[in-house]
Amino acid sequence: KPDGLAQTPPMGWSSWNKFADHIDDKTVREIADAMVSSGLRDAGYRYINIDDGWQGQRGADGQIRPNSRFPDMKALADYVHGKGLKLGIYSSPGPKTCAGYEGSYGHIQQDAATYAAWGIDYLKYDLCSGEAFYQSAEQIRASYQEMGQALRATGRAIVYSLCEYGRGDVGSWGRNVGGHLWRTTGDIEDKYQVMAKLGFDGNGSPQHAGPGGWNDPDMLEVGNGGMSVEEYRTHMTLWAMSAAPLLMGHDLRNMDRQTASLLENPEVIAIDQDALGIQGQAVRKEDGAEIWVKPLAGGAVALALFNRTDKPQSIEFSAKDAGLSQLATLRDLWAHQPLVTDTRHITLPAHGAALLKVSGNAL
Ligand code: GLA
Repeated sequence: KPDGLAQTPPMGWSSWNKFADHIDDKTVREIADAMVSSGLRDAGYRYINIDDGWQGQRGADGQIRPNSRFPDMKALADYVHGKGLKLGIYSSPGPKTCAGYEGSYGHIQQDAATYAAWGIDYLKYDLCSGEAFYQSAEQIRASYQEMGQALRATGRAIVYSLCEYGRGDVGSWGRNVGGHLWRTTGDIEDKYQVMAKLGFDGNGSPQHAGPGGWNDPDMLEVGNGGMSVEEYRTHMTLWAMSAAPLLMGHDLRNMDRQTASLLENPEVIAIDQDALGIQGQAVRKEDGAEIWVKPLAGGAVALALFNRTDKPQSIEFSAKDAGLSQLATLRDLWAHQPLVTDTRHITLPAHGAALLKVSGNAL
């Protein structure tokens, strides 16, 4: 039975993209502070997720202990909660995690209970070394179900993030094992071509996404410096159109205005977080130009235009692309203004994107 969590795609931050496993208590607290002072918390980003690298050894009682970089997980959770934020953690079904730390193998129920006792609100569960133990699609599914049941049995509201890279058709069973989001891809990198491959071509089947369960094309790289502003705008636009989880991956303590404006734009976030929870998709792909559509609550439609080529390109669009008989109103969500042009084309820079909210009568 549904638990009411993740009615919209989860929003927050994860340590992995910027810090890999060089993460510690002090940094997590400072990121939580910056989440509040930057305004990102109030823009909707609530989860502070510690990815791989917090684990130490198990005690004689089998209980997992954090390593020396995390002296007191419960105290850290209290600190994060005190900021109006939630704390996430990471493990694997196998004996080792992807970065070689202690996994949950043989300790599933015990680990779930430990996380709940610490006050953890989110678990990313990453297959990695489990691959040797869970080979068939059915074994993978069963291992995710085991942790899902263990989390549920704790009685704590814990968002459950499945990370098995879209193997075993996860979209069709992710919800049934208690999952709220599931990776559909390999790992993102802070490079346009990698991001574009995931975001344009790898985000799972839209029919599997909706309130309570989301396709996850991996975390955001916005602000990490490897892409141009226009490429990061494309990254955010694609993730918003895809109703993808918005998990930032940069160092919030040192954020320039440009990065903040890409991540905090309330009109763009509203497309991602729209209550209908429909995953948008391409309605046209030609010559490196793509037009994507995402129906919104209330009858309006988000229309995104993308230029995947290395040169500026003018892209034409019509009411029909949006499934409308005419375009009554058009708003440019990145420019924060109405689009007042009769010509239905927009010139986009190389690797650029535009995001419009349009209304009109349905076709
Ligand atoms: C895998 C995941 C990443 C990250 C690392 C941690 O590669 O896909 O997102 O969690 O493991 O080791």
